[in-house]
Amino acid sequence: MTRPALPRFALGDPLPAPTSSDELRLRLATRRSAPAQALTEPGPSAEEIGDILTLGARSPDHGKLFPWRLVVLGRQSRAELAEALTPLAALQPEPNKAKAVLGKLTAAPVTIMVVSAPVPSQKVPEWEQQLSAGAVCMNLEHAANALGYSASWITDWYSYDPQALDILDVGGGEQVAGFVHIGTLAEAPLERPRPDLADRVTWRP
Ligand SMILES: Cc1cc2nc3c(=O)[nH]c(=O)nc-3n(C[C@H](O)[C@H](O)[C@H](O)COP(=O)(O)O)c2cc1C
Repeated sequence: MTRPALPRFALGDPLPAPTSSDELRLRLATRRSAPAQALTEPGPSAEEIGDILTLGARSPDHGKLFPWRLVVLGRQSRAELAEALTPLAALQPEPNKAKAVLGKLTAAPVTIMVVSAPVPSQKVPEWEQQLSAGAVCMNLEHAANALGYSASWITDWYSYDPQALDILDVGGGEQVAGFVHIGTLAEAPLERPRPDLADRVTWRP
């Protein structure tokens, strides 16, 4: 599908104000993560992945530090990672489950690993930099949805296991913010529990 190129802006350009969009409102009301293992072809083209990266990187971050990096993982690299991680699955508290969830790593057509990479700053606490990496994950999901794909933001044990992090080439104060798997769902996802806002929201005059 041919789409118009994303608009580009120079530093300091005035940006268009938000416009009311019933379509976007409905999309957000029906947004749902995909089960990673159910994501299949078609996945985004290289050009579409470029758009998804551009849109995902357009995320808030205090101090303009860009405290994250993104690794696009195609099928081959994920198959190799899953093979290298398999012996470590046996060392996890639930080895069978740990091995089974490796299937989530290899199922989707494409995956973007979001690595939180805080930079030293007197001004911006590390926590805020990590939140920015989370915002990137969410915006990657929104971007994938905007291009007509489903997405799944997950972590799993290999995002925390020190040896797995070596295999993933994540280190030096970095953390995995998430694997954003992108593809197509054959069946509609089912609604899941949503919070009762009365429990979560306080209104103050
Ligand atoms: C930071 C983060 C980590 C997650 N890690 C996992 C995971 O390890 N395994 C998993 O099955 N789902 C994981 N999920 C996905 C959630 O379990 C769930 O699918 C998702 O929040 C559904 O929300 P949605 O339908 O509103 O998109 C993670 C989600 C977030 C935000």
